[in-house]
Amino acid sequence: MLQTAGILIVYLLVCYQAVRGNERSVAGYLGGSVILPSGADPTTKLVAIRWSIYNNVTFIATFSEGEFRNKYWKYKDRLELNTTTGDLEIKYLQADDDLRYTVLLEHPNNLERHNYVTLTVREKLRTPSIHIISRSLKDGFCTISLSCTSEDNVTLSWKPEQGFSERYLSGKPNQSSNEAVLWTSFSPNRNITFCCTATDGDLKEGKKHNLKCQEDSCHCQQNYALLVFLLVVFICLIVGFAYKYRAEIGTWFRNYWNTAFTKS
Ligand SMILES: *[C@@H]1O[C@H](CO)[C@@H](O)[C@H](O)[C@H]1NC(C)=O
Ligand SMILES: *[C@@H]1O[C@H](CO)[C@@H](O)[C@H](O)[C@H]1NC(C)=O
Ligand SMILES: *[C@@H]1O[C@H](CO)[C@@H](O)[C@H](O)[C@H]1NC(C)=O
Ligand SMILES: *[C@@H]1O[C@H](CO)[C@@H](O)[C@H](O)[C@H]1NC(C)=O
Ligand SMILES: *[C@@H]1O[C@H](CO)[C@@H](O)[C@H](O)[C@H]1NC(C)=O
Repeated sequence: MLQTAGILIVYLLVCYQAVRGNERSVAGYLGGSVILPSGADPTTKLVAIRWSIYNNVTFIATFSEGEFRNKYWKYKDRLELNTTTGDLEIKYLQADDDLRYTVLLEHPNNLERHNYVTLTVREKLRTPSIHIISRSLKDGFCTISLSCTSEDNVTLSWKPEQGFSERYLSGKPNQSSNEAVLWTSFSPNRNITFCCTATDGDLKEGKKHNLKCQEDSCHCQQNYALLVFLLVVFICLIVGFAYKYRAEIGTWFRNYWNTAFTKS
């Protein structure tokens, strides 16, 4: 009894994994293109490929007996089937392409396999985000490094706006993460803009970052001016005070003088 239950559980798990293994999901963007992976084993030959929507009932792209057919009007002139891999490319994506696709793969010896791909069509690329990794002003040079990241599967690149002729380096610090880092150094007291662009080949989305790297000398001059101003105010007060009470001060001095000299 227990043994049977155990076998049943193992069987269910295997089934579940097999189904999950057939399921993929990809994302594309309105107006862009996307490749639906067939999931075919690259070592086995494909005799026929049939891509369909609405639970198998509508074939959108088929390849059999060496012939490619793309009859369904909705995808007319928007499909490209790779007959070696079985992958299907959909171009000029529309909002209603957001569906679950089925692919039937036929191998020699009547071997068949179903795989499923769920396509999500997004409005547009998300704006990449920028943050400062480090920034310093030393020996008359501003040295900065900026990071640009995106939540989408895109290629990121950095570019300075016009007016920046210094050298800069940009690259991917980590092959597996979606990040582009920029390193550069330039003379300070300027207004500089760097732009990070995200692209998936068709669509683009950029974000700008404005940098101002000021030398501290400005602050020092301001402090100095404030000090001079306070000193002038102080002297004015003393002079004013002395002028107002000149009679009293004169009397006080005379008295002090007299007592000091009378004593000795
Ligand atoms: C598509 O059809 C095949 C066989 O005709 C079936 O095994 C498979 O479950 C069907 N897929 C869907 C999503 O209905
Ligand atoms: C099909 O895909 C393979 C592997 O990605 C590639 O080498 C080949 O050029 C593709 N064929 C076509 C017709 O796009
Ligand atoms: C990201 O895009 C590349 C090329 O467009 C593709 O090869 C890769 O599988 C994608 N990765 C994910 C996680 O979708
Ligand atoms: C690269 O990025 C991945 C995912 O963000 C992370 O798990 C990994 O530790 C990073 N590797 C290095 C060398 O930073
Ligand atoms: C710096 O330049 C950007 C655009 O180039 C502009 O929008 C911004 O107002 C400028 N800032 C200053 C302080 O000049």
